[in-house]
Amino acid sequence: MAYDREITQELISVIARFVEEKLRPIEAQVGEDDAVPEAIINQMKELGLFGLTVPIKYGGLDLTMEVECLVAFEFGRTSPAFSSCFGTNVGIGSQGLILFGSEAQKQKYLPQIASGELVTSFCLTEAEAGSDSAAVQTRAQRVGDHYVLTGSKRYITNADRAGLFTVMARTDADVKGAKGVTAFLVERDSPGLSVGKPEKKMGQQGAHICDVYFDAVKVPVENRLGEEGAGFKLAMQVLDRGRLHIASVCVGLAERLISDSLNYALKRQQFGKPICEHQLIQAMLADSKTEAYAAKAMILDAARLKDGDQSITLEAAAAKYYASEMVGRVADRAVQILGGAGYVVDYGIERLYRDVRIFRIYEGTSQIQQIVIAREMIKAAKG
Ligand code: CAA
Repeated sequence: MAYDREITQELISVIARFVEEKLRPIEAQVGEDDAVPEAIINQMKELGLFGLTVPIKYGGLDLTMEVECLVAFEFGRTSPAFSSCFGTNVGIGSQGLILFGSEAQKQKYLPQIASGELVTSFCLTEAEAGSDSAAVQTRAQRVGDHYVLTGSKRYITNADRAGLFTVMARTDADVKGAKGVTAFLVERDSPGLSVGKPEKKMGQQGAHICDVYFDAVKVPVENRLGEEGAGFKLAMQVLDRGRLHIASVCVGLAERLISDSLNYALKRQQFGKPICEHQLIQAMLADSKTEAYAAKAMILDAARLKDGDQSITLEAAAAKYYASEMVGRVADRAVQILGGAGYVVDYGIERLYRDVRIFRIYEGTSQIQQIVIAREMIKAAKG
């Protein structure tokens, strides 16, 4: 839904204050504990963050893509573990239901998703189906009025807290590739469903990924999302939106890193003057600023196209590709500008440097984004 400028501005400033006053002071603690405090998650619920994109009639805020990106810019200014708490509810965990769910499915689940009572996860990736996501092997066999799901999913964000999983599984074993895949809404307490331990990761401590196992899990037919065979396209459309959201978080984090580098360069003296007066430091600051600005402009352009109901497969891939690579370069320069301090834990820059590495990998690697962009160009050229 389109809110007027004043309401949007108010929302953004409430979020900016929350990030500045409540989240940034506990970043290091969250990193050490590998957990976001429950009290913070409750405040996120009160702010309505879990329902940012859920339609108003189901209790959400129904933000446009553009405003969702503005919110993500603000959340990017702190550890990504925080936005990950509600990120799957706003994006990949709920969008399949919002876009393709039946009225009964929406009424059953969306109000609890919007309030944060129900956390959602998106189960596409498997051990043998990473970038090649059409190769999913998890089986969903129709038996009377339900399906039986057998298989496992890998590195699933928020699986440890999730109460509802959007699961892509193969309904037709004879059909290889995308056309044999169907999407399901699977409840956490379904007998046979279990979740592995959170993985130990390079960065983003506080955001958890786990494997999810399906051992003959019975899923009622009414929990199928869309038609049989439509699950792959559903997943790809969900990812189009998710990729723009991730790109926005990358821009927010780049702006944070640039601000930290600039503040350091203003104070740190070498050769008798602040290092910001040295041209080689200026070059790094200028490159980071220019690239972050370019990524922001790309994202806002793509978001407006999406709000105008246009397909943004190419634009979302381009924005995610550019912004995730950009924030990697910005983080690297931030460490360089801080020098030894950039490598020391107390300054927090090395933590953000590790945090941003995954952006080039999840929701489609940079190489997959290149393939998507080129394929869309070729498709358009062929007409
Ligand atoms: N929107 C709508 N339809 C789409 C689409 C899109 N964005 N992308 C593809 N499709 C359709 C195609 O048009 C095609 O339809 P037809 O058969 O009717 O022509 C069908 O889907 C199959 O598409 P492709 O032939 O292009 O499929 P492919 O097997 O060659 O692979 C791919 C395409 C782009 C490589 C895709 O597999 C992909 O994006 N891989 C990366 C997966 C990914 O991002 N994984 C991340 C997992 S989520 C995550 O990271 C979770 C987390 O917790 C953070």
